Amino acid sequence: MTDSAQTPPAEPVLEFRDLRVDFALATSTVHAVRGVNLSVAAGETLAVVGESGSGKSATALSAMRLNPEPPCVYAGGQVLLDGRDVLALREKELRKIRGARISMVFQDPMTSLDPLQRVGDQVAEVLRLHGDHTRAEARRAALTALDEVGIPDPERRYRQYPHELSGGLRQRVMIASALVARPRVLIADEPTTALDVTVQRQILELLVRLQRRHGMAVLLITHDLGVVAETADRVVVMRHGEVVETGDVEQVFTRPAAPYTRELLAATPDWSPSHDHDPAAGDRRTAQGVPRPPAERRRGRRLPHRPGGRDVRPGR
Ligand SMILES: Nc1ncnc2c1ncn2[C@@H]1O[C@H](COP(=O)(O)OP(=O)(O)OP(=O)(O)O)[C@@H](O)[C@H]1O
Ligand SMILES: [Mg+2]
Repeated sequence: MTDSAQTPPAEPVLEFRDLRVDFALATSTVHAVRGVNLSVAAGETLAVVGESGSGKSATALSAMRLNPEPPCVYAGGQVLLDGRDVLALREKELRKIRGARISMVFQDPMTSLDPLQRVGDQVAEVLRLHGDHTRAEARRAALTALDEVGIPDPERRYRQYPHELSGGLRQRVMIASALVARPRVLIADEPTTALDVTVQRQILELLVRLQRRHGMAVLLITHDLGVVAETADRVVVMRHGEVVETGDVEQVFTRPAAPYTRELLAATPDWSPSHDHDPAAGDRRTAQGVPRPPAERRRGRRLPHRPGGRDVRPGR
């Protein structure tokens, strides 16, 4: 096969280069991110896994320069969004890209939605902030977005307040407002952890569908290895603020190189290489060729927490 017959590697849309993030506390400094390198291409889902406190959220928030400063100090490296270093932008420029070129969905939509504003207006507001949409255009686009994320009767829901919606619908509203301006990158930090198991599944399926439709780059942070196998193309394993392993999901899950990755997989036995030998697993393959576990095994898998690590997980 000639070189030209091979698919060229896709250009990264988002690239972290030797990122270092510290939190300067009163008596000590936490080196939360210690030289992280990773990249996500258009149309690709990159999952980030690792124990609590390993620096996943601090890394992800850096992509929008959203870690609170202080105590956060960006101590080194770059975060390139379409080649531009987000960490070098002024606040005014950051406001232009947040929500428009890159957006984020968090675990708990209640903390991100304004309790006093109608949900539809909150989606429309993203467009009002970022473009020259008239009020009517923004409203129409918000209704379309609510419909696209599977909210029934969007006209009625548009006028409701966050407390009038179920957790699943609220997360759909968050996804609608994250995607209404058609960003190039979506970061989802434990987007389904606060939801019921059946709703989790629907939200993940929705994210996968929207990603395929719009060809976004998705950075998905999750504790659930089953979710990684089902949704991600590549996976990054973090520990103590560093990337310990990265690769295609199938490769990392079946032939983990780092001892820590082997520990993680051993702690979730369904993902041990021997899972591959389960004859019943033979025909359960995802589009990426990753063994698909039986549905009941996929539920509620959690990576073990580091002893002494930050175990308090708000909203859970
Ligand atoms: N705003 C903050 N102020 C002080 N320390 C912080 C802050 N945010 C994160 N940290 C610290 O940085 C380290 C990495 O935290 P981070 O939230 O990135 O972990 P994580 O991998 O997302 O964990 P989890 O799985 O629990 O969400 C931890 O030691 C944490 O206590
Ligand atoms: Mg986190």
